[in-house]
Amino acid sequence: MSKSTPGNKDYSKYFDFSNAKVLHEDEHGKHIRVNGREIHIVSQPSYREEKRRGKEDVQVLYDNGIPEEMKHLGQGKHYHITTYGCQMNEHDTEVMRGMFEAMGYTSTEDRDEADVILLNTCAIRENAEDKVFGELGHLKHLKLEKPSLILGVCGCMSQEESVVSRIMQKHSFVDLIFGTHNIHRLPQLLKDAYFGKEMVVEVWSKEGDIIENLPKKREGLRAWVNIMYGCDKFCTYCIVPYTRGKERSRRPQDVLAEIRDLARQGFKEITLLGQNVNAYGKDFTDLTYSFGDLMDDIRKIDVPRIRFTTSHPRDFDDQLVEVLAKRGNLVEHIHLPVQSGSSEVLKKMSRKYSREHYLELVGKIKQAIPDVVLTSDIIVGFPGETDEQFEDTLSLVREVRYDSAYTFIYSPRAGTPAAEMEDNVSMEVKKVRLARLNELLNEIGRERNEELRGQVVEVLVEGVSKNNAEMLSGRTRTNKLIHFKGHASLSGDFVHVRVTEPQTWVLKGELVQEPERANPAV
Ligand code: 5AD
Ligand code: SF4
Repeated sequence: MSKSTPGNKDYSKYFDFSNAKVLHEDEHGKHIRVNGREIHIVSQPSYREEKRRGKEDVQVLYDNGIPEEMKHLGQGKHYHITTYGCQMNEHDTEVMRGMFEAMGYTSTEDRDEADVILLNTCAIRENAEDKVFGELGHLKHLKLEKPSLILGVCGCMSQEESVVSRIMQKHSFVDLIFGTHNIHRLPQLLKDAYFGKEMVVEVWSKEGDIIENLPKKREGLRAWVNIMYGCDKFCTYCIVPYTRGKERSRRPQDVLAEIRDLARQGFKEITLLGQNVNAYGKDFTDLTYSFGDLMDDIRKIDVPRIRFTTSHPRDFDDQLVEVLAKRGNLVEHIHLPVQSGSSEVLKKMSRKYSREHYLELVGKIKQAIPDVVLTSDIIVGFPGETDEQFEDTLSLVREVRYDSAYTFIYSPRAGTPAAEMEDNVSMEVKKVRLARLNELLNEIGRERNEELRGQVVEVLVEGVSKNNAEMLSGRTRTNKLIHFKGHASLSGDFVHVRVTEPQTWVLKGELVQEPERANPAV
């Protein structure tokens, strides 16, 4: 357990299970009683175990249909999933939705109607966790009114030892806790939760195998495709290597087959997902095949737009730059998180690149793709960050000229090395730094958008604008939101739009009939 730093909640009081009464133990785990609530712990997360990176090969399992006897488990029943966090989590939710529906469940937005409610959680910052605990407070009332309701917590928070302990102690009305490595076990876990009276806890610390062929419920024009799981980078502030396990890549033939299938189904845009997509293929022991190779193969598949997230600057190689410069369906947008502009801070973050290396990479990318849109993630107030080091971040932002960036105040995460570092920067100072950074980003973002004034851009029409039925909304290749007047029947089509009114967060434009002078790169 880390020492308590400002803003880092001390969960240590939830750790002591010496008072828990062990009812019995067998090959299926331990049955304990905590504060009068019986809990079946099949497996519990452990920070120590999650830190380990085993040498054993990852197996790929292909045969993962829903067991016959569970195909009707959900008939006449409704499920609801609330998802927090990143696109990886959103995509895990799609997999769980696929499994629910393969068991006969129907989706509902109305929690009162639901027979099963899952919270698919995020652990990246403390405020993400606070939201979930707040939500559990609301759900308690629902559970009291409807005792047959199954309430589950899954996702990244479930991989945290301290969170699971806290739920067992303080939120004993929860029926089910499972982690990111065992979502494929959802049918069996649900069955256990229905038929047993205990809270079921099954969280694997070790990542286990890659499971192919799980059902997925996708909607809309865009689809996500996992290309790899886990992260081995261990940036000192980050919880992800613990919650998502070691890096393991899906086999190229499985990724390509899934993308071809999505192309056949008519998806217009695919985003490749991984915590560190640039490390794709590094774990293969039997073939040499990199992320650049994968992108080059995907380029040949007939899907209009391919995106990817998230890149790590350290592994972003020249081959990838070369492949991306071929364009086609590979869009001119790269999300390239820098985290800090100071080489000293980057070192303390264990990012394994310097400011100079990052800027050199940006230079190479801009040279190969001059109209590229770069976006970033930036943390302010990392432990010990000086005014000067923060100024380095501002000057890097000025130099790169990001179109936009996600910015965060550093949030200590129990179990990570940075949570142990001395933090002598006050929250007040951190807030001022965040505001200054955002102000600069907005100014540059607006200037970047201004450069598009008068240009014709290719837009994928998403649908009618939320606020005005006459207006359509869509996205440029570089993922910029654009509003323009048009008929709803254009939804799902590619059209050309002239940018007439660039703003900080959004573009406004007008439809053009012919793509004269269309800049295919914007
Ligand atoms: N505190 C603040 N921001 C964080 N991120 C990851 N961990 C933390 C943390 N402990 C940010 C990083 C990452 C993004 C997804 O979240 O910028 O790229
Ligand atoms: Fe995604 Fe990381 Fe949050 Fe997990 S902790 S949901 S991987 S952002």
